[in-house]
Amino acid sequence: MTAYTPHDWIDVGAVEDVPLRGARVVHTASGDIAVFRTGEGKIFALRDRCPHKNGPLSQGIVHDDGVTCPLHNWVIDLATGQARGADVGCTGVIPVRAERGRIHLGVAALAGRVA
Ligand code: FES
Repeated sequence: MTAYTPHDWIDVGAVEDVPLRGARVVHTASGDIAVFRTGEGKIFALRDRCPHKNGPLSQGIVHDDGVTCPLHNWVIDLATGQARGADVGCTGVIPVRAERGRIHLGVAALAGRVA
């Protein structure tokens, strides 16, 4: 069994596995995480739950550095997790980095990753 510290990072896949203007889901024991790739190739990660009514943000439309929720069209900022415009709410931001073509998520947010 690997012992991780809260400062470690876990490889969750290749950058190329996340489509431009799209997302992939990482399943963890503490809930799904949506990993996004913008049209400019920037990588972000958020809890896969809209702050409105828990819609799956990973199935939303990615534009600029935001995602439009597929359920009721709230726009969530990918960098802050905050709802934009007149809507109020926030989803959790997950530490993420891309290194040598691989995506790594911060271990502290991944306790109990299952797949
Ligand atoms: S659940 Fe996302 S906008 Fe309603």
